[in-house]
Amino acid sequence: MFLLLILVSLSLGSQQAYSTSSSSLESTTFLFPSFDAGSCTGKQLICTGSVSPRDGYLNITPERGNSSLASMPTNQVGRVLYSQPVVAWPAMISTEFTVRITPLPNSNASGDGMAFLFAQDNSSSPPNSYGSYMGILDRSTQGGVVRQLAVELDTYMNEFDRDGNHVGIDTTSTTDSVYVQSLNTTGVNLTSGRDIRVGIKYDGYKHILQISVAYSGNSLISVLKHSIKMSETVPRLVYVGFSAGTGPLPESHQVLNWAFSSFPISPENERLKRDNRIKTILILVVPTVMTVLFMAICIYLVKRVPRKRNNDTDIESQSREAANVPKMFTYKELAKATRNFSKENLLGTGGFGSVYKGVLSDPPVEIAVKKISATSKQGERQYLAEICTIGRMRHKNIVQLHGWCHEGEQLLLVYQYMANGSLDRFIGKQPLDWETRYDILTGVASALLYLHEECGIPVVHRDVKPNNIMLDSNHNAYLGDFGLARLIQSDSSATTMFAGTPGYLAPEVAYSGKATPESDVYSFGMVVLEVVCGRRSKGMMEENSLVDYVWSLYGEGSLLECVDVQMEGQFDEEQVKRALIVGLACLHPYAACRPRMRKVVQIFLNPDEPLMELPQSRPSVAYVPVSFSGLTTVGFSSPSGTKSASTLSRLSSPLKIETEREQGMPGPR
Ligand SMILES: *[C@@H]1O[C@H](CO)[C@@H](O)[C@H](O)[C@H]1NC(C)=O
Ligand SMILES: *[C@@H]1O[C@H](CO)[C@@H](O)[C@H](O)[C@H]1NC(C)=O
Ligand SMILES: *[C@@H]1O[C@H](CO)[C@@H](O)[C@H](O)[C@H]1NC(C)=O
Ligand SMILES: *[C@@H]1O[C@H](CO)[C@@H](O)[C@H](O)[C@H]1NC(C)=O
Ligand SMILES: *[C@@H]1O[C@H](CO)[C@@H](O)[C@H](O)[C@H]1NC(C)=O
Ligand SMILES: [Mg+2]
Repeated sequence: MFLLLILVSLSLGSQQAYSTSSSSLESTTFLFPSFDAGSCTGKQLICTGSVSPRDGYLNITPERGNSSLASMPTNQVGRVLYSQPVVAWPAMISTEFTVRITPLPNSNASGDGMAFLFAQDNSSSPPNSYGSYMGILDRSTQGGVVRQLAVELDTYMNEFDRDGNHVGIDTTSTTDSVYVQSLNTTGVNLTSGRDIRVGIKYDGYKHILQISVAYSGNSLISVLKHSIKMSETVPRLVYVGFSAGTGPLPESHQVLNWAFSSFPISPENERLKRDNRIKTILILVVPTVMTVLFMAICIYLVKRVPRKRNNDTDIESQSREAANVPKMFTYKELAKATRNFSKENLLGTGGFGSVYKGVLSDPPVEIAVKKISATSKQGERQYLAEICTIGRMRHKNIVQLHGWCHEGEQLLLVYQYMANGSLDRFIGKQPLDWETRYDILTGVASALLYLHEECGIPVVHRDVKPNNIMLDSNHNAYLGDFGLARLIQSDSSATTMFAGTPGYLAPEVAYSGKATPESDVYSFGMVVLEVVCGRRSKGMMEENSLVDYVWSLYGEGSLLECVDVQMEGQFDEEQVKRALIVGLACLHPYAACRPRMRKVVQIFLNPDEPLMELPQSRPSVAYVPVSFSGLTTVGFSSPSGTKSASTLSRLSSPLKIETEREQGMPGPR
């Protein structure tokens, strides 16, 4: 509901902040898609020092504009805080914002940087906190006089700094940071004047603060993970916001948008006893907030671009651009970007056509262009409907559709480019560490949860498999290829196109031809097994299929035997076991017995979430249900001592259809 409200308001172009807070939980969520002249006079922000709002952003320190260098004030310091206190601990905190830092042009120096603050009160920065103090503290307030935590974005190399382009965590001192990390390996240059997105997360269970950065429009790169206890650092209630400082040289520090959420959690010792409600809310709301932020930034960018080009672009074209967030490209543009679809740019060929790497020139963005050859008889209108569906999907684990092009027989879809290709390139081939594998599975699960339950109209992916899971340069997972996704028809008798990939296809789909959220869950289970075991499934036809193998190990109590040897035993055994059990539960032959994605995500996110019951051996299908409604009442039998191969052979009817299909027969329509 909250999400809907925000989306509706956002699409109306309003630029104020939206917030919710529930007194029982004391949770806080707010979003500033942008700022405007009234941002500091309203009740939401406390602006002090050199902070001044502009049309679209906040200046924390003055920007140069047209003024001469001589007239630029030096030693500036500003601080802006959200006016209400938020819970710092015990809590899960997540914030993302975009900043733009502009030093003097043609100068070999700049100064000094800015910070995101968890401040103990709502007061302004100390007057002498200019320069390298970045408005965080000054000589008189350092050494623990104030309790606070600052994430600094430092742009000037002081004698105590390692370089002039780093992030760090400061508590009682800016000269002696708790932890610093240079950005020189991320390719992000704080003083480049470009829009930079920063993500800060605090996991109140694990006490880990994580900082990520990227140029706006790219996926965030994690640069720093540090273990720190908020409870030992700041008061339980804090004020959050930004500060910045300059020294003898001017530098503007601008905040363009800001999303924040804090969700209190139960204290550690009571953690097991408390109900799961809060965690559930967390699991639901944190991704929601991130989704909203993505939307906000997209809408903001789309709205801003034409304004930049020409101050008075007609409103009509602006709104048109805002409405079609997936952009319409011309064939010529895409041909140019992909060097005329050259062989060197070919990334791969799939069922629907070929994918090419491309580079757009303004702004320079790497893209992947999917060229779909046979575009059948579908009309423009259907394409548009499809593209709107795909384009609406916004989730941090879903490949973003940037745009499309339909000219003549050609349908081209433009996606964000993924440096590491698809997951199938890794399974059983290139080693990935366990943490990465776990993050990939968690990401895919939350993407499916989003599709099934959170994106408005339930969407079934229909073809979940490693080839459709893309990895960016940081091995973050993105579910892709919605070529098969269709909206679930409320009229269940409506026939849908038969599709899917053998091996990942739920047994009931083979004879009903109908994909459901449950059949996506089945496919996901197969992906879990493949990722953990480092083996491709061979499909249902093979004896000793991966599922039978893993399930039999489960029955024998030796699950860990199937784990990918490439991990060389470097993994969290408990986590691996839980992941495998979830995977097997998803692979239950009866759709009704599979967990829902929500439960799967909860298990992946929360080590205390109880697991589902799982039969000791792979259940056999007793008979072929006539319809789906029959499934809910069908139980399962677990014949003890039955070897899995013989279990399979009793799947007579679906197996037959599967066989026919594999021999090239068209599936039921
Ligand atoms: C700054 O200069 C530009 C042209 O160089 C002009 O259009 C604009 O009005 C000036 N802004 C101010 C605040 O003087
Ligand atoms: C900038 O560079 C010049 C020489 O190129 C040097 O003399 C000057 O000290 C430098 N300034 C700073 C602040 O590093
Ligand atoms: C700062 O917080 C105090 C309460 O701690 C409150 O009375 C005061 O109005 C706040 N100041 C601003 C500017 O909001
Ligand atoms: C990156 O920063 C580290 C630490 O500040 C430094 O040792 C290293 O030389 C830097 N690398 C580059 C390419 O500047
Ligand atoms: C960052 O960008 C600025 C402005 O383009 C440039 O002067 C500076 O050398 C860059 N710094 C690094 C570390 O690349
Ligand atoms: Mg510094």
